[in-house]
Amino acid sequence: MTASDQADPVYPVPERLFKEGVPKPHIASMDEYKKLWEESVNEPEKFFGRLGNELLSWAKPFTQVKSGSFEEGDVAWFLDGEINASFNCVDRHALAYPDRVAIIHEGDEPGNVAKITYRQLLQEVSRLANVLLSLDVRKGDNVCIYMPMIPEAVYAMLACTRIGALHSVVFAGFSSDSLRDRIIDCNAHVVLTADEGRRGGKNIATKRIVDAAVKDSPCVDHVLVCRRTGSEVPWTAPRDKWWHEETVKARPYCPPVSVNAEDPMFLLYTSGSTGTPKGVMHTTAGYLLGAAASMKYVFDYHSEAGDVHACMADIGWITGHTYIVYGPLLNGATTVLFESTPTYPDPSRFWQVVQKHKITQLYTAPTAIRALRRLGNKWLEGYDLSSLRIIASVGEPINPEAWEWYNEQVGKNRCAVVDTYWQTETGSHILTPLPCVVPAKPGSATFPFFGIKPAILDPVTGKELEGNDVTGVLAISQPWPSMARTVYNNHYRYMDTYLNPYKGFYFTGDGASRDKDGYYWIRGRVDDVINVSGHRLSTAEIESALIHHDSVAEAAVVGGQDDLTGQCIHAFCTLKPNVDANEGLEKELTLQVRKVIGPFATPKRIYIVGDLPKTRSGKIMRRILRKIVNGESDSLGDISTLADPSVVQSLIDKVKQ
Ligand code: WT7
Repeated sequence: MTASDQADPVYPVPERLFKEGVPKPHIASMDEYKKLWEESVNEPEKFFGRLGNELLSWAKPFTQVKSGSFEEGDVAWFLDGEINASFNCVDRHALAYPDRVAIIHEGDEPGNVAKITYRQLLQEVSRLANVLLSLDVRKGDNVCIYMPMIPEAVYAMLACTRIGALHSVVFAGFSSDSLRDRIIDCNAHVVLTADEGRRGGKNIATKRIVDAAVKDSPCVDHVLVCRRTGSEVPWTAPRDKWWHEETVKARPYCPPVSVNAEDPMFLLYTSGSTGTPKGVMHTTAGYLLGAAASMKYVFDYHSEAGDVHACMADIGWITGHTYIVYGPLLNGATTVLFESTPTYPDPSRFWQVVQKHKITQLYTAPTAIRALRRLGNKWLEGYDLSSLRIIASVGEPINPEAWEWYNEQVGKNRCAVVDTYWQTETGSHILTPLPCVVPAKPGSATFPFFGIKPAILDPVTGKELEGNDVTGVLAISQPWPSMARTVYNNHYRYMDTYLNPYKGFYFTGDGASRDKDGYYWIRGRVDDVINVSGHRLSTAEIESALIHHDSVAEAAVVGGQDDLTGQCIHAFCTLKPNVDANEGLEKELTLQVRKVIGPFATPKRIYIVGDLPKTRSGKIMRRILRKIVNGESDSLGDISTLADPSVVQSLIDKVKQ
């Protein structure tokens, strides 16, 4: 397929965004965007030097903006500057406007709302930072956070960065096995958690999961437990401590510890093409600048106009880090922390929340948009969504039908629809329209953000494909401030995954086209990563979970297309000799995956098969399985190189059953 096969509709920027009563856009014309973008990639020192001073407050100013290269893998920004993340997010706003609301917590039960001002935020973060110090956490130490979507989770992140410790937030949907692996990998001495979580009207046994993980994590000395539901939980003294009992004793001010711009700020584990998750490491000033700048320009955020920003992600993913916590707070924003689901207690929840808090920017995932669209427009009826200006999407390609529904039903054709493409590793948006500037094409993430120079490469030769109307793999040609600097304890793996595949480029792992108008279209992963409901999973990781089951000899996992979740998991397993496929086995294998990874990795289908398609040297041909599950069995290509070509027909029959 060439990029020009598409005759794509173009949606101009809604005029209403320039009308009286609407804040004047930070960037108001295509010319202005182009001029700034040119400067950002041609004179990055000048551009980011200016932006760094404009958007961040420094304990010691930097004199050098940028150093290092992709070739050497030693990228650094603002090298001799010193800064504190928590000070930038909290103190400077608490001083300027202490009574402004920093966080609106929309609890799981509608009506259960808490508002935390910047003054309170400074006190809560300080108390907790002092507790961490009393637990012997020091600059450079790793702290694991496994928490539900409550304000204390945000305090936890900011308390770590206040004292120069790194947080490693683990999404609270991960199983105890996954949590244990992440705790051990970063050698965390302290885990912050809650008694239980609460989501969609159900209680989640958060502390019990932590107990099971910590039992096998000898590095953990302390578990600090926040009371969310008040249910009885198992207790291990003196390891376990109640959050409220410790913080009440602590002083509500803690001086921020200045760190070097390149000191590590946090780890976030993510899946790659091989089995074990990688601890992606972000450093301080560059990450903060990417978060602050993209929040300001991509969401056209205006604190003076009383904007209320709602990112519906979980803080356990990078989207939550950058656009619930750091991006908004760096801009002195009011950020919504949403504990529930889009359908609890009914599918009008998002719209209730938009109306109640007069949300101006709404940020969610295509999966949620598709699910709500399918449930019907009646759930939006009667809700006042007129506060919305920018409605945005993230995590996976958004199909044009979902885009149009979002634009019409939610945006009422008067909001900018912003499709943001980025990754855990990029720290902040890299391809995205600026809302008041770029005419949209549904399904395209449009143009690069400041500092991003994209390149489409021929996947085989690695040659850059110049000009428009080209398709290949997406790479970035030069360093930008918020890119990840390494994989924790494994710089070799960092180089091998991102910087060595195409020398001189950062490799995203995604296929992409640049169409005749220069718009970028993401075509999905070209490696063994699959994306289910915006959750990133490695096929190798799921296979490894399955192989750990006593009955399984081999496993092959591929992504199938799914109307709702984007992709879904299809798992093929062969059994060990003398093991019979009993009735409960598929269920057991499903549970096995849920136990090793977490419920969000549940396979849609598990096929117990006699054999897998293999080459004569024994390599499993996942390409063939991928085609079979996606109904492309008539275009399997040459299967004569298979050790046993007859396997294919039996697999086709099995999948059809
Ligand atoms: C992968 C990164 C940081 C966003 C949350 C996911 C896919 C992300 C888009 C988009 C098409 C997208 C890519 C990317 N992706 N946003 N707007 N259009 N694909 O972060 O878990 O690190 O996953 O998500 O495949 O590589 P992540």
